[in-house]
Parts: sequence; C-alpha cells; structure tokens
Amino acid sequence: MDETGSHTQKIYKWPRPLLREEKGLILLFYLAFYIFLAGLFALTMYVMLQTLDDHRPTYQDRLSTPGMMIRPKGDQLEITYTVEYTETWERYVQALNNFLSPYNDSVQAQKNYECKPDQYFIQEDSGSLKNFPKRSCQFKRSILEDCSGTDRYYGYNEGKPCIIIKLNRVIGLLPANDGQPPYVRCGPKSFLNSVCVDISHHSGSCSSSVLSSVAIRMTQINLVNWRTFPPNGTFNLMYYPYYGKKAQVNYSQPLVAIKFLNITMNEDVNVECKISANNIPEGSERDKFAGRVSFKLRINSRD
Ligand SMILES: *[C@@H]1O[C@H](CO)[C@@H](O)[C@H](O)[C@H]1NC(C)=O
Ligand SMILES: *[C@@H]1O[C@H](CO)[C@@H](O)[C@H](O)[C@H]1NC(C)=O
Ligand SMILES: *[C@@H]1O[C@H](CO)[C@@H](O)[C@H](O)[C@H]1NC(C)=O
Ligand SMILES: *[C@@H]1O[C@H](CO)[C@@H](O)[C@H](O)[C@H]1NC(C)=O
Repeated sequence: MDETGSHTQKIYKWPRPLLREEKGLILLFYLAFYIFLAGLFALTMYVMLQTLDDHRPTYQDRLSTPGMMIRPKGDQLEITYTVEYTETWERYVQALNNFLSPYNDSVQAQKNYECKPDQYFIQEDSGSLKNFPKRSCQFKRSILEDCSGTDRYYGYNEGKPCIIIKLNRVIGLLPANDGQPPYVRCGPKSFLNSVCVDISHHSGSCSSSVLSSVAIRMTQINLVNWRTFPPNGTFNLMYYPYYGKKAQVNYSQPLVAIKFLNITMNEDVNVECKISANNIPEGSERDKFAGRVSFKLRINSRD
C-alpha cells in the first residue's frame, strides 16, 4: 500500500503553476516566431513571383504534339442519331451553334486583325520591351462554307453531318509541312492495326480469317465521301504561333470542318482524323488525342 501510494504521487506530480510574467513571455516568443515565419514565407513568394513572366508560362509540359478534339462532342466521342427524329440531333446542332458563335463574322471583324495569309504571324518581344497585347487573326465562320451553319442544321437533318475539328493550343508551336500549312487527314480507323496488336499478345500473329473479316469491314467503311472546309482541310499558317492566353486575349483557334456526304446508314462508322505536319512528332500510341482523334458516327434512318 505504501509503495503504490508513493508511485502514484510521482506520476501525478504537476509542475508548479506558471507565473503571469512567464506566460506573457512564452506568448510573446511564439508571436515573434510566427511573425518571423510569415515574413520569411512572404519574402520567398515575392522573390519567386519576380522571376515569373506574366505572359509566358515558365514551365510547359513537353506537349510537342498538340491534342485534337471534335465538336459536337457526344458522349464517348460518339455521334449517334436518327435522321427522322429531330430531338435526337438537335442537341448537336445547338452545340455547334454555341461553339461557333464567337466565330461570327461580325464578332471576328470587330475583335481580330485581318492577317496576311500563308505566313506565320510573328509578334516577338524586343528585349525587355513587351510587345503586348498581341493581335490575333480573324477566323470567320464563313470560311467553313457548308458547315458554317448557313443551312441552320449543319446537314444533320439530311444525314450529311458536319464535324468540326480543332487543334489544341500549344504556345509557340509552328506546325508546317515543308513550309506548307498543316492539314487534317481523315480515314476509317485502322482496325487492322488494332486487331493485329491485340492478337499478337496472345498468339504472335494475325490469323488470316481475322484479316479477311477486317478487310471486309474496312471496305464497307470506305464507302464514305466527305468534303473538308477550308479546302484541303488546312490550318492556315497565319494562326501560329500562339503566344498564350494573357498575351493574346482575342485568339481564335483555326478550325477545320468535315461534311460527311454519303455515310453508310444504320451502321457504326469509325473515323480517325490526324494532323499532318512534318515538324511535329507523331503522338505516342498511348495518348489517344495526341495529334489525332477518333470518333464513331452512327446515323440511323427508318428508310
Ligand atoms: C452569331 O450569329 C447568329 C446568327 O447569325 C446569332 O444568332 C448569334 O446570336 C450570334 N452570336 C453572337 C455571339 O453574336
Ligand atoms: C480584343 O477585342 C476587343 C473587342 O472585343 C478589342 O477592343 C481589343 O482591341 C482586342 N484586343 C486586341 C489585342 O486585338
Ligand atoms: C489543295 O492541295 C492541292 C495539292 O496539294 C493544291 O494544288 C491546291 O492548291 C490546294 N488548294 C487550296 C485551296 O489550298
Ligand atoms: C453513296 O453510297 C452508295 C453505297 O453506299 C452508292 O451506291 C452511291 O452511289 C453513293 N452516292 C454518292 C453520291 O457517292
């Protein structure tokens, strides 16, 4: 009993209460300490921000192959509708109306500059003197002719839909084909490669039966006629380089439209579009959107 009693006394022995002056000193110490830390933090932030340029990102991911995207963008990049049922395609028309409204000719004429076509629109800074704000070139939706919305429904009502393709912005990119403008090239998605790649994981080669069935699918899919706008599906050189959101506030990305004129009805049609420019690297196979985009079209018709 005696032993345990002294034991508990040791454990529960509190230090003597702090004097008021001591409490004050401790508080003062922590106050000074935190003010010092906050000051240090502010100073490092300040020094770091001084080294940043407002109009150019300091670091950019090595995104040398720009991504591509389509509009309208259905779920999973699928555009599926039935010609006779307006409600199945009017959302695509609405999406295109919204997407193209900043490209209205009047809006572009007011915001942007009429550039000299077929050459880069270089606006470099000279030394520390910032050439800012930088002008941007007009991209009027009328360039897209039959896909500009003149027919109100972009062809969706007749089973000849327009798809718009854009190349994502990459600061400083100067895409070209030996000085000629880059263009969009589309075709049936190469089932051949993907099937062979899949099979090679299992058996090491493509079986001939698979090959012939794939070949049949491809000829069916080839029964697609299309037109591109602007002609040849080019992105004019004058829209490059892009200098960034802050430097080029009114920048409008150039677009290419594809109008499918004779698509096989009631069947999935897989299309792949690629950017053709010999000075930007082929995107990695893993990145589905590097320099290319694939989508599925399925147009149903009751007839
Ligand atoms: C663009 O033009 C269409 C008709 O031509 C009009 O309905 C739409 O409101 C315009 N958009 C803007 C942003 O001016
Ligand atoms: C951007 O557009 C506005 C009109 O919307 C215009 O006043 C301004 O000058 C334009 N800026 C540049 C750099 O072109
Ligand atoms: C389209 O390409 C062809 C050959 O590549 C060329 O001769 C023609 O001038 C181009 N058309 C336009 C409008 O750029
Ligand atoms: C459209 O495709 C069909 C076959 O699917 C073909 O018979 C027809 O001639 C084509 N029409 C045009 C205008 O290319």
